[in-house]
Amino acid sequence: MEMRKLPIGVFDSGVGGISVLRELAALMPNEDFIFFGDSKHAPYGTKTLEEVRKLTCADAEYLRKQQVKALVVACNTATSAAIDILREKYQDIPVIGIEPALKPAVHAGNHPRVLVMATPMTLREEKFQKLMQQYRAEAEIISLPCPGLVEFVERGELDSPALEQFLTTLFRDYLLHPVDCVVLGCTHYPLVKDMIQKVLGDDVQIFDGGEGTARETRRRLEEAGLLNPTEKTGNIQLENSLETAEILQLSRFLLEHKSNGN
Ligand code: DGL
Repeated sequence: MEMRKLPIGVFDSGVGGISVLRELAALMPNEDFIFFGDSKHAPYGTKTLEEVRKLTCADAEYLRKQQVKALVVACNTATSAAIDILREKYQDIPVIGIEPALKPAVHAGNHPRVLVMATPMTLREEKFQKLMQQYRAEAEIISLPCPGLVEFVERGELDSPALEQFLTTLFRDYLLHPVDCVVLGCTHYPLVKDMIQKVLGDDVQIFDGGEGTARETRRRLEEAGLLNPTEKTGNIQLENSLETAEILQLSRFLLEHKSNGN
């Protein structure tokens, strides 16, 4: 098949990457997508670097074998662990990663107090450390590892009292000393954005990297002459390593329901 008409492969450690897939499909409705969520092995963010590299390479290879014209790593953790390896391996197609949307948050005010929520691995890795260095002078940047939050999303628990309690405990210090902005540095978190906003209050501005990643993907495809010329609405195929009816149902729900503030 003509390269331009091939689907775009998108993957994550689980269903979180669907928050990025939504942005991709909204920006490029005529493209076909194959989304692969590795819920069987989620969460990635609390595993070792070696384990995450191995899993990420397996996810990418799985999609590559299905003939995709580009790969979007819709996972901050996988991006920080393995984007260089993937770019080296797949030099013939665009490989796009995601990183915490620190820049727009830092520029949202005059020396704002910015809370970056992400997995322990994303915050620990060199990629984020370098990003933070870049903006250190312009804002007060606080890293908040959130182990346990991904699991709520994987269970489809997007607005339960237990989630509210979990977030209230997680944000305890920032309820006492409020922040100006929050960066959702994990693709699962935009799926519980409403609850995060509810707990932190309406004065806090929330940012995520999904839209920027979608724009970057379109730019890279355009540059490579790979945008699909068709005007027909594209097809979105959802796959998951768990292969259960429940996870596929949850994936479809997350793709189609935009009610959670995103
Ligand atoms: N969704 C992933 C991210 O953006 C990671 C979640 C996890 O598996 O720990 O970082």
